[in-house]
Amino acid sequence: MEYLRIKGGKPLAGEVRVQGSKNGALPLMTATVLIQGKTVLHNCPRIADIEAMADLLRTIGCKVGFDKDTITIDATHICDTHCPQKQVQAMRSSIMLLGPLLGRCKSIQMHRPGGCVIGERPTDIHEWALRRMNVEFISQGDTITAYTDRLTGADICLPFPSVGATENVIMAAVTAEGTTRLTNAAKEPEIRLLCEFLRKAGAKIRGIGTSVLEITGVDTLREVSMSIMADRIVAGTYLLAAAATGGQLFVRDAPSEQMQSLIGVLRHMGASVFVDRDIICIDAYEAKRPCPYIKTEVYPGFPTDLQSMLVAALALASGESVVEESIFEGRFRMVPQLCKMGADITEEGNRVRIRGVEKLCGTDLEAQELRGGAALVIAALAADGESRIHGLSYIERGYEDIVRDIRQLGGDIAYITGESNVPV
Ligand code: UD1
Repeated sequence: MEYLRIKGGKPLAGEVRVQGSKNGALPLMTATVLIQGKTVLHNCPRIADIEAMADLLRTIGCKVGFDKDTITIDATHICDTHCPQKQVQAMRSSIMLLGPLLGRCKSIQMHRPGGCVIGERPTDIHEWALRRMNVEFISQGDTITAYTDRLTGADICLPFPSVGATENVIMAAVTAEGTTRLTNAAKEPEIRLLCEFLRKAGAKIRGIGTSVLEITGVDTLREVSMSIMADRIVAGTYLLAAAATGGQLFVRDAPSEQMQSLIGVLRHMGASVFVDRDIICIDAYEAKRPCPYIKTEVYPGFPTDLQSMLVAALALASGESVVEESIFEGRFRMVPQLCKMGADITEEGNRVRIRGVEKLCGTDLEAQELRGGAALVIAALAADGESRIHGLSYIERGYEDIVRDIRQLGGDIAYITGESNVPV
């Protein structure tokens, strides 16, 4: 049995560097399928989801090699468009192969990635948009089969700026015949990274960073290398850990420009936050003020991926806060766990009402999904006494080495395997 043991109640202090972005790297890995040759991606985080994507790419014929934080993907020979169920279901991002495989091979068969613990996560917008580009879909049970005789550009206005659907349309459009005009596109920084990557490989994309993208198909894309930006959610996790524990941190290699909504919230809570390009310095000694109302929104609004961690930090505020989740319907699974620690939080539909308490108490906890698991780590660091967090594999999907990073900040945290304390 493996779990995290955390002895809390001590402010975090020190300096930490932020890993490369998971949600930036995964779509780029799928986009490499469009390139008949080698792609080199630097600053990739060494996390479970990246390994899972590498496995999935290998099943269709890519050669994938790792060297520290650099991944080389050789997609010269794609031999299969059938994506096996086991690899597809290992992570949600496998749906991002739809656009690239249709672009490269004109067909794809995959098991539906399915719903997940944070909500239903349908793919109707992806499919609807690709149909407009001359793709036929056959759905049989849990399997998606999609094919086209040639992808064609289209005018597409997304009913919701879905991040995944925007990425799939972009990847389908870059080698389609004609021009695709995508409106109400998602504007998340990960979309910008994908567009810049594809443009470097020879794609013709206009409107990068806006909600209207114009993509004119080209015949082929060329080999390219790219560095992945830092992970705004990991950076945010450490800033919120500082807020919860009343700590003082230097967060290095942080994508501060992408983090304005969180920085605003931290300042509202009473933290002093200073930004110098890619360094964020926080003094959260007095970050106890509650937030009357915060809602998760599409970028540049407050990110859904930081909602659980914010709730954990607000559990110790000196007053009442309300947090509304507007992106996913099942993202409060960590709430009963926080209440087990003494938090006073009630769920009201897609909102939680958080009445701040003076202290939380360490206990046995179960991570049930990635970001909810990170929220439990934050709560445990702020709580009195010892916590044991099970379900470590969820946290490892997105954090390279949370124990290394938190220890560097003076936190008392360890991986425990069986009875032994595994050194890090
Ligand atoms: C979402 C987040 C993204 C985050 C990622 C990983 C938003 C807008 N998106 O991206 O920031 O990094 O999770 O946690 O914050 N939907 C449909 N039909 C579809 C596609 C989506 O109804 O075909 C709905 C989803 O159920 C959800 C919403 O649209 O309610 C957002 O989905 P989408 O942006 O596509 O999700 P991800 O790409 O996973």
